[in-house]
Amino acid sequence: MKSRKFLIAGNWKMNKTAADGVSLVKDIVAAVGPQTEVDVVVCPPFTALESVSKALEGSAIKLGAQNMHPKASGAYTGEVSAEMLRGHFTTHVILGHSERRQYFGETDAFINEKVVTALKNLLKPILCIGETLAEREAGRTLEVVKTQLEGGLAGVSATDATSVVLAYEPVWAIGTGKVATTEQAQEVHAFIRGWLATRFDKTVAGKMRILYGGSMKPSNAPELLRQEDIDGGLIGGASLEAQSFIDLVQAAKAAS
Ligand code: PGA
Repeated sequence: MKSRKFLIAGNWKMNKTAADGVSLVKDIVAAVGPQTEVDVVVCPPFTALESVSKALEGSAIKLGAQNMHPKASGAYTGEVSAEMLRGHFTTHVILGHSERRQYFGETDAFINEKVVTALKNLLKPILCIGETLAEREAGRTLEVVKTQLEGGLAGVSATDATSVVLAYEPVWAIGTGKVATTEQAQEVHAFIRGWLATRFDKTVAGKMRILYGGSMKPSNAPELLRQEDIDGGLIGGASLEAQSFIDLVQAAKAAS
């Protein structure tokens, strides 16, 4: 029996038009929409938020965005603010995904500004952290994760911290089909929980959810979800197809 409720979040990345997104969530809502044993979040591209939010009406599934700018408004061409996301009934926002760090040069300091703004606007950040293959091979995994935690959560109070979801995503496991072993994942998750207990306190650390991300799919989910400090998954590839995403929610239900 897990003390924290599992969270299964789908990160669609740059996939699905609004129409494709609606058809995908219709199938997901039909299968797992009313259940509340597992928290479920879908994160479509900005252009599908409005249509998907309508398709989710009446279900327990929540809506998340994949990014956000820290400023409230202004001359930031191509960016979207927290208030704009809230206007589409968005409750969660993925921040600091490794693809944003890698391709768009996002730093821990910039990601931290977003985390703070999201919390101020009552959006729950899904803060992503994780090491590259080179960093793991150099034995630097825990040091990298610690730096990202310190940077990303700077200035966040213990009260606000319980609204933050962390996602440990080893970069080498994202979209590669190479999943971290349960031991590798649990080791880092336990390290993160320990760090949170020092940074905040044990009670806060015990409440915060730490998701695993990186090639999670129905076949490997049960074993990962059985680990003490793994509280769900941030799912890329397997969230793009209704059946595999539904199976992941069912796996979390079974592991609850
Ligand atoms: P993946 O992506 O499940 O396709 O590996 C996970 C993520 O990037 O959040």
